[in-house]
Amino acid sequence: MRQTLLERTRMSRICRMVLAASLGSVILLVLYFQSTFQPVTRRNPFSSSACCPKGSRTALQELYSPSQVELVSAAELHQARRDQIGETCRVHGSPSRRRRVLTPSDLKHLVVDEEHELIYCYVPKVACTNWKRMMMVLSGRGKYTDPMQIPSNEAHVSSNLKMLSQYNIAEINHRLKSYLKFLFVREPFERLVSAYRNKFTLRYNTSFHKRYGTRIVRRYRKNATAEALQTGADVKFCEFAEYLTDPVTQQEAPLNEHWQTVYSLCHPCHIHYDLVGKYETLEDDSNYLLKLAGVADWLRFPTYTKSTRTTDQMTAMFFQNISAQHQAQLYQLYKLDFLMFNYSTPGYLKWR
Ligand SMILES: *[C@@H]1O[C@H](CO)[C@@H](O)[C@H](O)[C@H]1NC(C)=O
Ligand SMILES: *[C@@H]1O[C@H](CO)[C@@H](O)[C@H](O)[C@H]1NC(C)=O
Ligand SMILES: *[C@@H]1O[C@H](CO)[C@@H](O)[C@H](O)[C@H]1NC(C)=O
Ligand SMILES: *[C@@H]1O[C@H](CO)[C@@H](O)[C@H](O)[C@H]1NC(C)=O
Repeated sequence: MRQTLLERTRMSRICRMVLAASLGSVILLVLYFQSTFQPVTRRNPFSSSACCPKGSRTALQELYSPSQVELVSAAELHQARRDQIGETCRVHGSPSRRRRVLTPSDLKHLVVDEEHELIYCYVPKVACTNWKRMMMVLSGRGKYTDPMQIPSNEAHVSSNLKMLSQYNIAEINHRLKSYLKFLFVREPFERLVSAYRNKFTLRYNTSFHKRYGTRIVRRYRKNATAEALQTGADVKFCEFAEYLTDPVTQQEAPLNEHWQTVYSLCHPCHIHYDLVGKYETLEDDSNYLLKLAGVADWLRFPTYTKSTRTTDQMTAMFFQNISAQHQAQLYQLYKLDFLMFNYSTPGYLKWR
């Protein structure tokens, strides 16, 4: 009995592997066409003529050929952002980076809203709790109306959201082709410091201390106390920097999603994002998206008033404390995010 069960598990694992491999190549084909990065004016599937009575236009049509005058300048801004990504992928996406096959597991950051035909790639530390709440409101069929009534821990329960990786290949491809795909990005070092502060300087949740802190202290601190080795609760930013830039780190496992690059989480050189929102203009970009989706009359993005927010000055303070070598290595690590999303090299870096 036991053995049969084991055999069955083994068989099904093999089946799943074979299946995953074949699924992957199908996705590759479709994404290959998507990733040719022609100027969007050429790949825009919608004619610019005023084809449709107001109200029946889709979010994509309103984004690529706005019918409302007040949306024209936003459309141009987002065109420029898309061009910037396309250009960066063309110039810097080396063959090894252009890799391969996107498999369903590469799509596990993509949240789907069927109702409004939206796909959101969530990036931790870029207002992702609030955007997950928004996706729950949008796809909840009236279950919620106010995003802030959803407790933050509930927004992170994966079964509360529909992920693109849960669909079959035909459904995935259909959604990638016809839904409006968006993500929100942030200055990479500000995001990194925000992740560090949130996971290593607060005491409320010890899971990151245990999982990463103890390892970091053991490897990078000389003369660590028994307590520090045990709890991993007081990781210094320079130790965190050493961990991130150590070649061993990425060989062991992909970086944790809180400090993984947007490039690796959302695959912007393979998936053509229609709208790239920025943390620096979070409310404007979010409310523009809601307007496109036709829900702005009843849904607004929550106003953001977090006083503990990591700022540029704070980021500079943390970076001034690490060596020029580590600064340069960290810049290398996050370089594609800097280029792709048009963030300039920070003035506080010593090696510049
Ligand atoms: C990139 O940033 C520069 C300066 O910050 C700005 O002038 C330019 O318009 C931006 N380009 C895009 C595509 O956002
Ligand atoms: C602590 O973090 C873990 C992993 O991120 C999470 O599952 C857990 O709910 C968190 N606990 C609290 C009290 O926030
Ligand atoms: C570690 O401890 C030894 C013995 O107490 C001491 O000589 C050494 O300077 C310490 N090293 C560091 C980096 O603090
Ligand atoms: C910078 O380093 C000093 C000395 O190691 C430390 O006392 C200080 O807390 C650090 N500051 C920051 C912002 O990490």
